[in-house]
Amino acid sequence: MEMHLPALVCLAFICGNAEPSVRVWAGSSTVLRCRQDPGDSLLMLIWKVQLLDNSRCILSVSRENLANYNNCSERVRQENTSLRIENTTVTDQGTYTCELVTYLGTFFTSVLLEVLVQPSVTLELNKLGVPECRAHGGNPAANISWIPEGSISTNRAMEPDRSWTVSSTYTATSSNVTQVTCIVSHPTFPQLHSTAISTAGSQPPVSVTESVRVWAGSSTVLRCRQDPGDQLVLLTWKVQLLDNSHCTLALNWENLTNRNNCSERMRQENTSLRIENTAVTDQGNYTCQFVNTLGTFFTSVLLEVLGVVFRTPQR
Ligand SMILES: *[C@@H]1O[C@H](CO)[C@@H](O)[C@H](O)[C@H]1NC(C)=O
Ligand SMILES: *[C@@H]1O[C@H](CO)[C@@H](O)[C@H](O)[C@H]1NC(C)=O
Ligand SMILES: *[C@@H]1O[C@H](CO)[C@@H](O)[C@H](O)[C@H]1NC(C)=O
Ligand SMILES: *[C@@H]1O[C@H](CO)[C@@H](O)[C@H](O)[C@H]1NC(C)=O
Ligand SMILES: *[C@@H]1O[C@H](CO)[C@@H](O)[C@H](O)[C@H]1NC(C)=O
Ligand SMILES: *[C@@H]1O[C@H](CO)[C@@H](O)[C@H](O)[C@H]1NC(C)=O
Ligand SMILES: *[C@@H]1O[C@H](CO)[C@@H](O)[C@H](O)[C@H]1NC(C)=O
Ligand SMILES: *[C@@H]1O[C@H](CO)[C@@H](O)[C@H](O)[C@H]1NC(C)=O
Ligand SMILES: *[C@@H]1O[C@H](CO)[C@@H](O)[C@H](O)[C@H]1NC(C)=O
Repeated sequence: MEMHLPALVCLAFICGNAEPSVRVWAGSSTVLRCRQDPGDSLLMLIWKVQLLDNSRCILSVSRENLANYNNCSERVRQENTSLRIENTTVTDQGTYTCELVTYLGTFFTSVLLEVLVQPSVTLELNKLGVPECRAHGGNPAANISWIPEGSISTNRAMEPDRSWTVSSTYTATSSNVTQVTCIVSHPTFPQLHSTAISTAGSQPPVSVTESVRVWAGSSTVLRCRQDPGDQLVLLTWKVQLLDNSHCTLALNWENLTNRNNCSERMRQENTSLRIENTAVTDQGNYTCQFVNTLGTFFTSVLLEVLGVVFRTPQR
């Protein structure tokens, strides 16, 4: 039988879990289906839920007298034999078992529900002048690593909404490290998220330059680090390619006219820059400049394009 699920499904033998698992975004609606179709033989349907905090709840409906029982969240309800969760939250994570009681026997289907929340990443020198990288409010917890190697201390803390904040501090093991890079991996990031900070002495950071690595042939979206708010007047992406040529994309917010003397594979999407079919020749320094009523702001992203076929092992 087909099991129709709204997101990625992995089979038990691939994922190593006892049940197939489903990943959905927090805030979305989730529909979990029973694998079997009971047809007319259905006597009773019970969804048993075991949440990650070990609490349990039950939804059941009997066909005889249409009696309903539900002590799960009010965002959860039965829709025929399926279970629908509105505004899915991290607290909904757990194992969902459908128990179909029919004339022919009782059938079970279990699904492990995982709820994704993208963390926000910051890198700064903390009060002690030590680089500290944080992935705030993500689910599952993000992984943080550093280049070059150093002495690293990483902590995880659960937020009230049960998402995770991971923070990692870096102490250089050699005195001539002047810049460190924090690399964050998370299932919601299509590529590794990396940010560099200068550590010259224990001075405040001189510059923060973000860099992204993508595979040749993929679509890339580069974002302005700051949010320009609603007073935006002009947004310009200035591109300096590795061969030192320059080009510019500009979008005038007042009359919505745009200019682009970069590649036609590039276009502006709101404040972001999208590159289709990214090529190795697209590597360079992409600076987002925006003008709003408060002034002019710049942020830069270094784009590195990997032209290799095989994925290198993660650092
Ligand atoms: C729901 O009811 C079941 C069975 O009566 C009970 O074991 C469970 O603790 C209840 N859960 C909640 C959240 O009330
Ligand atoms: C889901 O969230 C939306 C917007 O926050 C709200 O209007 C709606 O009532 C929520 N639905 C349920 C079932 O809680
Ligand atoms: C329940 O199933 C019936 C018959 O298959 C279908 O017409 C109806 O739309 C379903 N209801 C929901 C809420 O999915
Ligand atoms: C973090 O790394 C561990 C071990 O390398 C891996 O099992 C886990 O899935 C990773 N988590 C994320 C969120 O990438
Ligand atoms: C520190 O600098 C010296 C001389 O420039 C260089 O040989 C050495 O590899 C550097 N060490 C590190 C860890 O970068
Ligand atoms: C795009 O325009 C800028 C300024 O108008 C110029 O400096 C640059 O050389 C142009 N680049 C290309 C690729 O035409
Ligand atoms: C849009 O506005 C800018 C300045 O505000 C002006 O230079 C440009 O010519 C305008 N374009 C059109 C098509 O009106
Ligand atoms: C641009 O932003 C608006 C409002 O935030 C959003 O509705 C729209 O989907 C965005 N467009 C793109 C292409 O991201
Ligand atoms: C990228 O370009 C911006 C603006 O031209 C510049 O301030 C920044 O230093 C450049 N970054 C690198 C690493 O070259």
